[in-house]
Amino acid sequence: MEQYVITGGKPLRGVVEIYGAKNAALALIPAAILTEEPVIISNLPDVSDINVMLEAVAQLGAKVERLNRHKVRITGAGVHSHQINDDYISKIRASYYLLGALLGRFHEAEVAMPGGCVIGARPIDQHIKGFEALGAKVKISEGNIYAKAEQLKGNHIYFDVVSVGATINIMLAAVMAEGNTIIENPAKEPHVVDLANMLNSMGARIRGAGTDVIRIKGVPKLHKTEYMVIPDQIEAGTFMFAAAITKGEITVANVIPKHLESITAKLVDIGCEVEEYDEAVIVRGCERLSATQVKTLPYPGFPTDMQPQISVALALASGISTVTESIFENRFKYVTELARMGAKIKVENNTAIISGVKGLFGAKLNAPDLRAGAALVLAALSAEGTSTINDINYIQRGYEAFDEKLRALGGDIRKVDTDKK
Ligand code: UD1
Repeated sequence: MEQYVITGGKPLRGVVEIYGAKNAALALIPAAILTEEPVIISNLPDVSDINVMLEAVAQLGAKVERLNRHKVRITGAGVHSHQINDDYISKIRASYYLLGALLGRFHEAEVAMPGGCVIGARPIDQHIKGFEALGAKVKISEGNIYAKAEQLKGNHIYFDVVSVGATINIMLAAVMAEGNTIIENPAKEPHVVDLANMLNSMGARIRGAGTDVIRIKGVPKLHKTEYMVIPDQIEAGTFMFAAAITKGEITVANVIPKHLESITAKLVDIGCEVEEYDEAVIVRGCERLSATQVKTLPYPGFPTDMQPQISVALALASGISTVTESIFENRFKYVTELARMGAKIKVENNTAIISGVKGLFGAKLNAPDLRAGAALVLAALSAEGTSTINDINYIQRGYEAFDEKLRALGGDIRKVDTDKK
């Protein structure tokens, strides 16, 4: 088993290059099999969730060629199966995008129910509502979801909750449906826009992604393209908070600063300096951060995927802060881990009340999920003494070379194979 061993106390300094967005790439890979022609995707992060998705499309019959570590050519001509229900695919949340893509192309799909990080109930009723509105019949049985349509027809869909997954899934299913689809109350996350851009470069007619209404004119066929994934907003945000938490100074390069606005605003609010450039931001920490209130919201609000990272910063701030989680109901599991490091946090319903302390100390920790795991790494980098973090496979699902990047910034972090110790 691998673990991180981290000795804290050094301010992180230097430049870090951000890779492509995992959550965007997870939608672009299934989108690639909507056509028989080759689709080249570059700036793909080399993380386990992406590798699972590539394996899944290959298993469906697509030809997947690695052109280099971050670039892949996917040719969907050979897709022969509409069914994927192996255990491994249900481990990633985004497995359900294969449902939208297969339904969109073949009008039939069977996919294992999705897993992913256990941060809440994560229902898929809005996905099903959307597929049904397009004319599909959907059935859940024995842990699989089946969807089948004689014909997919565009429709007017209003989502009751803002869902990234449902928005992306319906875009994938509707792009070649007959007629017009209108999605109201869609998610506006950068990766929704990224998917629309890639599909449009394949001949789709999608307008309004990133706004309150997405309009899709169905086209009969999509064609080849070459597309570069947008930079990862959450990886960037994590390194921005690393500067705040370790009182360092980090240039976070290869980013789209517009996507980081809610994160930047909170960093400034708690006392950091943030300089914005065309494709980079510089974050300068300060001697003592200040308390604040924050509530997670769909984009352009403060992302739920940055909630554990800001909580670590506020655990070190002067005064009492509150962090309210409004997207997922089970996202404070890391609080007990932080308590072992000396943090003072009380959770009441969906709000963490954080009384800032001057410093944290090293402890034996377990990563409860992907983003909380990354936040614990940042906490350990700021703490006095040495920490060990287990279950780092969660972190490796979404952060490529996390330890290497942190080491390059001066962090004392080692990956250790405990079986070989
Ligand atoms: C995606 C991201 C995840 C991020 C989340 C919110 C990917 C692969 N994952 O997850 O990292 O934390 O967006 O930004 O991109 N909901 C329903 N019914 C549905 C679908 C969702 O009630 O049919 C609820 C969820 O329980 C949750 C909220 O809507 O409370 C938002 O979920 P959603 O945006 O769908 O999250 P994911 O797509 O799973």
